[in-house]
Amino acid sequence: MKLFVDTANLEELEQSLQRGFAAGVTTNPSILARERLDDFPAHVKRLIELLLEYDFAGPLSLEVFGNTPAAMIRQAEEFVEQFGHYPQLNIKVPIGWDELKVIAELRRRDIAVNCTCCMAFNQAVMAAQAGARYVSLFWGRIRDTGSDAAGVVRQVTDTFRRRNCATEVIVGSIRHMADVNEAILAGADIVTVPPQFLPQMCCHPKTDEVVRQFAGACQWPAAGEILEPLPAKG
Ligand code: E4P
Repeated sequence: MKLFVDTANLEELEQSLQRGFAAGVTTNPSILARERLDDFPAHVKRLIELLLEYDFAGPLSLEVFGNTPAAMIRQAEEFVEQFGHYPQLNIKVPIGWDELKVIAELRRRDIAVNCTCCMAFNQAVMAAQAGARYVSLFWGRIRDTGSDAAGVVRQVTDTFRRRNCATEVIVGSIRHMADVNEAILAGADIVTVPPQFLPQMCCHPKTDEVVRQFAGACQWPAAGEILEPLPAKG
């Protein structure tokens, strides 16, 4: 079980790196567009510099968005040329009949692929068989169709494990904190979490209460020497 961070924002990424729980980073074209970039390669290089500054060596996923297999392969080549100094660069390729050619070709070149936008068991199976290192199942978007996201995650992860398939299952498209918990319980190898949910994931009102009680009870050394006033709860 691993947590990735679903962001291309430098500040959000640094907040996670400082806290040590993140095992990887995922981006997609929409996430990158939120950064209002005038220089995409320069921004990705800054992301990589930040990862290296923290001695981080987990996977970083970048998505290709060409409209033919040849265009996607060309874009993947450019990514590898520009960012291949990062040891665990993954190329995200959406699932699709033509896109399987891209996955297979990148696999032949030993370039790790995160096959993205998967909504169904059969898509995950096809991606894994074509050579994807990761398949990304989109929890929130599966649920948008009225389908059972936990069921899909369970079927895929159970099958991959039973058949000793090395492909790992990433669950993305997280819309609520409860989605993270449910995806882990359904067997996800990895959940990629939008940064806004991360602080909430280690909070509980009873924890705040007990921490305040303990701090209030503390008589040694004189509280003023080590305790700063707690921020007001708003
Ligand atoms: C994960 O890898 C995806 O990029 C992301 O979680 C997609 O989520 P969305 O449904 O919010 O676009």
